[in-house]
Amino acid sequence: MPPLKGMMGVFLRSQRGREFMVQVPGSATSKLKDAQLAEVLNWCIENFAGSSLINGEYRPYTADEVGRLRQSPLQEIDHTRAAVLAEIARLPETGEI
Ligand code: HEM
Repeated sequence: MPPLKGMMGVFLRSQRGREFMVQVPGSATSKLKDAQLAEVLNWCIENFAGSSLINGEYRPYTADEVGRLRQSPLQEIDHTRAAVLAEIARLPETGEI
């Protein structure tokens, strides 16, 4: 399992990264209800994102958002993760990550 510590705020810098964290199978196919999955993700972000959050802030996941995204779990996880991180690395304000 890749380390989440210090990473979640990085994924949150792009829409695809935001979606990625819901669409990995561990999230998307968990037995949690949408509202619970949103809560767990928000809890993980608050506890593990650390300084990766820009200005220490983030937009919490909602049950609706999570419910929509988890309908399409990822098939190509490693490839998607690499593509998402490459895209984020090209963002002007995050070029050093
Ligand atoms: C609600 C519960 C869970 C949540 C919210 C969750 C969340 C996440 C997130 C956000 C990632 C992406 C991390 C990254 O790429 O840096 C991830 C990846 C991963 N998680 Fe979980 N996870 C959950 C349950 C599980 C469980 C139960 C397992 C295994 C027993 C698991 C195994 C993995 C693995 C192996 C990966 C790497 C990608 C993959 O092969 O799917 N996760 N998880």
